Parts: sequence; structure tokens; C-alpha cells
Amino acid sequence: MKLRVIGLLLLLFPLLAWATPLKPGHDAVASAQPFATQVGMQVMAEGGNAFDAAVAVSAALSVVEPYSSGIGGGGFWLLHDAATGKGIVVDGREYAPAAATATMYQDKNGNVIPDGSLNGPLSAAIPGEVAALVYINQHYGKLSLAQDLAPAIKLARDGFPLDRRFHEMLASRADKLKQWPAAWKVFYPNGQVPPEGYLLKQPDLANTLELIARHGAAAFYTGALAKQMVDAVRAAGGIWSLDDLHDYQIKLRTPLTGDYRGMKIITVPPPSSGGIVMLEALNILSGYDLAQDSELMQKHLVIEAMRFAFRDRAEYLGDPDFVRMPLQRLLSPYYAAGLRASILPDKATPSNELAPVTPEAPESQHTTSIAVMDGSGNLVGGTFTVNFRFGSGFMPPGTGVILNDEMDDFVSKPGVPNGFGLVGNSANEIAPHKRPLSSMMPTFLYTRRGLAILGTPGGSRIISMVLLGTLNYFNGGDAQSIVSLPRYHMQYLPDVVFYEPGAFTADEITGLGKMGYTLKEIHPYGNMQSITWDYRSGKVSAAADPRDIGTAEVK
Ligand code: GLY
Repeated sequence: MKLRVIGLLLLLFPLLAWATPLKPGHDAVASAQPFATQVGMQVMAEGGNAFDAAVAVSAALSVVEPYSSGIGGGGFWLLHDAATGKGIVVDGREYAPAAATATMYQDKNGNVIPDGSLNGPLSAAIPGEVAALVYINQHYGKLSLAQDLAPAIKLARDGFPLDRRFHEMLASRADKLKQWPAAWKVFYPNGQVPPEGYLLKQPDLANTLELIARHGAAAFYTGALAKQMVDAVRAAGGIWSLDDLHDYQIKLRTPLTGDYRGMKIITVPPPSSGGIVMLEALNILSGYDLAQDSELMQKHLVIEAMRFAFRDRAEYLGDPDFVRMPLQRLLSPYYAAGLRASILPDKATPSNELAPVTPEAPESQHTTSIAVMDGSGNLVGGTFTVNFRFGSGFMPPGTGVILNDEMDDFVSKPGVPNGFGLVGNSANEIAPHKRPLSSMMPTFLYTRRGLAILGTPGGSRIISMVLLGTLNYFNGGDAQSIVSLPRYHMQYLPDVVFYEPGAFTADEITGLGKMGYTLKEIHPYGNMQSITWDYRSGKVSAAADPRDIGTAEVK
């Protein structure tokens, strides 16, 4: 009898171990900027939990990395609360102003106005980051909002030495920011790109953050600051109203869950396309035993899975509060099996047999990702953005806040590609208070071995980067290998496989060429942050993408 009970326990052990792992006992942060990573560790050392740290890191990034994200933008924060075992997505994605229309970026002949959705206050959607951070602090944090925001305020008020990346960003965006005097004054003292090491102070942003610390989200969405932003936006040609700000709400979304050959995936649902597209691709791939295939065949199958999943992104996805999407079908294993059956083992599927060809996505640097874990096992993955570098470039004078250009994530005209070369249709057309379709997708992975947090900026390439990182973790990788992995990307249109140096061997390039792929080597891209926790050894690893200046710490 005893033996039978022991036998049963041994049988159940892996399941129990998976369901109830011990606490990690370590705090860890990975972010795209060293000061922001330090802020996260400091807040946890002072008694905050991972949620406090995520709020503090996100706010700090709006000061030290405003070309990527900020309180004038928005994003998604994926939370796991260790106490309840529950996960939630805080959707702080921007929404379109009430006066926005489906054709607002078209001229009278129906042509898309170049740059209309990318530059200046007309390209700015109503920001969601402040509402998201305040919500996370109030509902999940242990510290006060003022404590979580204090390090960001200090960085803005006392300044910090400009890093190499910030300097490069200012050099590359000078032409755009010159058009918007408040931003120009803050970032280009004496009308010059400041050198590396320059002590950059942002007193207006410090005051804005201080107001929020004192009065919460209301300080940003109502009152004098809201009026200051709306007046400035309207005076410069934008269409924001006080009601747009007043009415903005975060949305709490149930995380999307999926399974890849026994690995559990927790990620972001629409209005991000990221989770759906990656899970659809993984469903296609789960019908293969990739480990048994040659490297060349694995890459062929992964690229084809990306192609099909991105096709459905263009066709169906948008804000779930506005459009009906066939999500059940897109995530059905039968649907995946049908797509899998159409993949030939030795030939690329031409995308232009499925829809018209569009131009290639330009490379860009924007958006940011964080990964945070505390000793109790609370987890946060966040990906948030002002969209392209320095967003719209527009800063309402006196606020220090760079506004996003997230309106470009909508479809300005069906079939016409946006700044990421992505096409779409009416599912993602502009409508008042609608959220533009995103690709941002902080993700948690759970296997019997342990868990991983991962996320990255990179527009449409976010999805393929997270997909490759997910497969790497499934195959035994850790935080370091997840962020370092050479990357490749296919988004259905254009019908081109973009790849980083080293992503394919010479033989694979020849092999893929013979299958009919058009390959294009591009500069290294992405800026992934990851934390992994190995249950058996107890090891917590954190890693920042070696392509950029971010840092990761574990204590
Ligand atoms: N702005 C990029 C994205 O949300 O995917």
C-alpha cells in the first residue's frame, strides 16, 4: 500500500512541481537602459515588489529613454501575482481621439499623406501609460505611487549623463525634432546634439511626474496639465479634446494562453496582434518534431509558419472592442493543421499568390521592453512605446512629455503599408476611441524545467523575435541565449526573409534560395530583455540584449 502511494506521488511529482514551484528568492530586472535597471533593483531593495519595480522602471525609462517610450505613450504590462497565482494584462494602449476618422491621413484624392500619421500632434493618440502605471501601483504594489515615481523624478530633475544610444538617437532625429520647439529646447541645448556624457536635465518632465506622484492619474487626464496638453496639441494642428483625456481608461485583459508541445505560453491578446500571431505560428509548428529536422528544414518551416500567421494578422486583427475576430478559428489546431498541410517541404510559398505585394518595412528604433521578477515569484513583462523614435516629436510646451505617433499603427488606407510595412484592412481602420493594432507582446513561458519572461521592441519583428526566443527556451535555452540568438523575420508581405548576420549559415542561405526564398541580410535589430528561473537548480538568470546598451541584474 505504502509503495503504491509513493509510486503515485512519484508519478504526480512532475505535475506538482510544475504547478507549485518554490519561490525564486531572487529579485531580477532587465531593461534597455542601465539607470532604469538600477532603479528597479533599488525599489525592490527598499521593500517594493516586482510590480513597484515595474512601475519605477517604466517611469524611469520615460526619462532616460524617451525616444522609445514615455508617459506620452502606452503599452502592455503582463503581470503574474504569486499570491493568487493569477495573471492579468494591463492594456495601457493609446486610443484614437474622438475626432479621428478612417480617412484622416488621406488627401482629397484618397492618397495617404506621407508622414501624416508619423509626425506632429495629429499623429498622437491619447496616451495610456500613466493610467496603467497608476493602476499597477494601486492594485499590486506595496509602496506608494510617490515612492515608485521618486527615482524617475530624480533622474529628470538632477539629470543623468547622456549614453551612447541616446546621443545617436538625437543625432538621427534632429531634423524631426527641430520642427517642435519645446522638444528641441529640452534635447538640443544651444541648438546642438549634446555629446555623450552631457548631463541632461528635464525639469518640466520632473514637474509633470511630481504632479502625478502627488495626485495620481487625475493629474494627467484632467485639470491644468490636461488643458495645457490639449491646448498645445490643438494649436499645432492636432485634434485632442479634454474629454478624450478625461474618458481614457485602461482595459484589463485576460492573458492569452497557448501550448506548444507541453510548454505553456502566457501572452498578450488583442489589441496586440503579437499573441495571436505567435500562437498561430506555434500551432502550425507543433505538428512537426522540429528537433528531428535539419537546421535548414527547421528554418523553412518557421518562416512559413510566420508567413501564414502574419497573413491572418493583416486580414482579421484589430481592437476587440470594435471588431469581431475569428480568434477561435485562428487558434484552432484544425486550422493550423490545414495551413501546415499546404506547406511544401522543399519550396517557399509565394506571398503574392495570397495578396498584393507591398514595400519593405524600414528599420527603426523605438519601443522598450522590461522583465522583472521578485523573490516571491511575482512577475512582470512590459512592452511599451511612443512608437517611432521620439514618437510624434511633439512636446506640449512646459510639460516635458513627448507625445506618441501611435496613430500610424492604424491602417491609413486598406492595403497601404504603415511605417512597419504592415498592411491591414477595415479591422484596423481608424475610429474614435479605438486602439490601434499593436505587435507588442511581453510573454511568460512555463515548462517543467522552469519559467521565462521575454519581450522586445521591434514593430512587426517583435512577434518573430519572441517566437524564436520561445523556441529557444523550449529547446533548453536561458535568458542569455534567448536575447542573443541571431534573428530572422518574415511578415507575409513583403515576401522577403530578413535576417541578421549569422542567423543562417552559407549552406542554409543556398538551401533557402533554392526553395524560392528572397533573403535580405539587415543590421542587427531588436532589444530583448529576459529573465529565466530554473526550478531544479534555483538559478535565476537575467539578460539584456547584447545588441544594445541595456543591463540586467539579479540579487
Ligand atoms: N507601435 C508598435 C506596436 O505597437 O506594435
